[in-house]
Amino acid sequence: MSDRLQETSNIWITGASSGIGESVTRALARGGHRLVITGRRQGALEELASVAPERIIPAAADTTSKEDLQAIAGTLENHGDLNMVILNAGTCEYLEIAHYSSDVIEKNIRTNVIGTARCLDIALPALRRSRAKGQPATLVIVSSSAWWFPFGRAEGYGASKAALTYFAHALRADLAAEGIDVVVVSPGFVKTPLTDRNDFPMPFLVSTEDAAERIVSGLARGKNEIAFPKRFTWMLKALGALPRPLIDRMSASMARKSNTEEENNG
Ligand SMILES: NC(=O)c1ccc[n+]([C@@H]2O[C@H](COP(=O)([O-])OP(=O)(O)OC[C@H]3O[C@@H](n4cnc5c(N)ncnc54)[C@H](OP(=O)(O)O)[C@@H]3O)[C@@H](O)[C@H]2O)c1
Repeated sequence: MSDRLQETSNIWITGASSGIGESVTRALARGGHRLVITGRRQGALEELASVAPERIIPAAADTTSKEDLQAIAGTLENHGDLNMVILNAGTCEYLEIAHYSSDVIEKNIRTNVIGTARCLDIALPALRRSRAKGQPATLVIVSSSAWWFPFGRAEGYGASKAALTYFAHALRADLAAEGIDVVVVSPGFVKTPLTDRNDFPMPFLVSTEDAAERIVSGLARGKNEIAFPKRFTWMLKALGALPRPLIDRMSASMARKSNTEEENNG
């Protein structure tokens, strides 16, 4: 039996101002936990905090900015011993191959990899302080299952989430001796403002409430890998295990179809 979330926990979550992070915040607050919530939009954070003002503290910051993060380090310290950090802030920018620009790659890497890594500058010392007092300490990194198969247009997003997952798994190895768990969350498609911009079919799309329920219950059950919905992630895993020439043919055909649709619509 896991000791995660069994007692009232102090949690920092990024990317709380919308989508998956917002629903996870609501679910954890309903469970009686105490949260510091981060995103860039102060107004959205304040609105969310108003559902349980005694237990949710807004701390606005751009997670790619070292200065912003240092400015909220005190809020985290005053919140009490930190038991869990959920690094969920992220973006998804697609590449239009006819107008290739490395800026698209940079934006994905900057927010999803560098931003997450920077959060650890303030999160890791806080988690270590909790471990030193014998308390549970868990680091949760929200990645994606998108990089398990090479999707056209997802060069930047997929590369960023592949790098982020490697980062998390290597941290898991390094932090095991200190008793700090590292959890990787790999969602399929979830209906959020991020995916509302997508102009292609999203199989097995789930709601943010459904996603939050799967994440929170997986954490409470002590899981270190949380991937959902299973019918989507198993399909991606099976496709990813095919011989490379077959994968290349399938992904090229999907990319051609999507680029033709794009041209027809544009
Ligand atoms: N939706 C899906 O299908 C799906 C699938 C797999 C993985 N994911 C991952 O799940 C996470 C949440 O995505 P979502 O779908 O819930 O998207 P979303 O609704 O757009 O939420 C993204 C969150 O990240 C925050 N954020 C973005 N850039 C930031 C920055 N530089 N500094 C601080 N906060 C920043 C946004 O807050 P502000 O705008 O206030 O800064 C917002 O709260 C992302 O890491 C995404 O890659 C999503």
